[in-house]
Amino acid sequence: MTRTPSYILHDGFRMPMGFPVESFQSALGYRARPGDIFVSAYPKCGTTWMQNIVWLVLHRGDPLPAGARMTEAIPHLEEVGREAVERLPEPRVIKTHLPFALTPTHPEGRVIYVSRNPFDCAVSYYHHTRGFVHHYDFAEGTFDDYFECFLAGEVDFGDYFDNVSSWLAHRGEPGFLFLTYEHMQADPVGAVVAVGDFLGPELGGTVHDEAILDRILEHSSFAAMSRDQLRWASARPAGMPAFVRKGTIGDWRNHFRPDQARRLLDRLNATPTLAGLWPEVVATVERFVDEGA
Ligand code: A3P
Repeated sequence: MTRTPSYILHDGFRMPMGFPVESFQSALGYRARPGDIFVSAYPKCGTTWMQNIVWLVLHRGDPLPAGARMTEAIPHLEEVGREAVERLPEPRVIKTHLPFALTPTHPEGRVIYVSRNPFDCAVSYYHHTRGFVHHYDFAEGTFDDYFECFLAGEVDFGDYFDNVSSWLAHRGEPGFLFLTYEHMQADPVGAVVAVGDFLGPELGGTVHDEAILDRILEHSSFAAMSRDQLRWASARPAGMPAFVRKGTIGDWRNHFRPDQARRLLDRLNATPTLAGLWPEVVATVERFVDEGA
């Protein structure tokens, strides 16, 4: 039996169950401030990791206080709506999964966008969708079921390729920092320094203090973020994978069949600028497909 996750349609845009339609609508009308810092990503591409890095850079490497939740410090615009974001102290740091065209940025504001290869993103999104049972009712869903939805773009927050392409088109513009999850893994120091420099000396200068940089790296490591996970997300039923789950590049190998990998690779290769972000992943998938042929 094929299972599909449950979503709520907000003007044709799929959202998890429990995300109020009114919040989504009001989010689209948010009037951004010049000092705003958006942390944007397609789901499962490293959003929370980047939120935490930005928090740490702005707070001299001090982690979220005990009992605090990231969703209050850096709220998710289309989940909480415009009013909650307007109550934030400035500079406002705001999470979003919206594509570029729907994101209410300010021309003088800043955006940090994180992308991740679609193979690992799909796997991570599958476990996410399985695990948040009250949002998706997909606890028994298989990867095969989920893969078809992902490839068709019939998942919450829309199509992976539409989202990443919409932001990639703005790479290199002022006020815009585009990073990949894979780059953050390969060079965490470089990624944190890039964030600090992007935020400028007043907000991001902390990254040039060695002791603070060490604290930022320590508190944003996978090991540190794996502890006390209620900081990042609500609890999941027993037996479901944790929100900060595996944190690796290449877990797709444990889930994809060669024919599935071929189809997703064809889709990726159809946008060469996107495929060019992950030459090593593309080459590994090609080999995986050839070996399975
Ligand atoms: P996996 O499910 O592959 O482990 P998002 O925050 O956009 O939902 O992304 C979640 C993904 O980022 C999960 O991937 C999670 O484990 C990974 N992640 C979170 N914090 C991380 C960290 N400090 N280092 C590496 N990966 C991290």
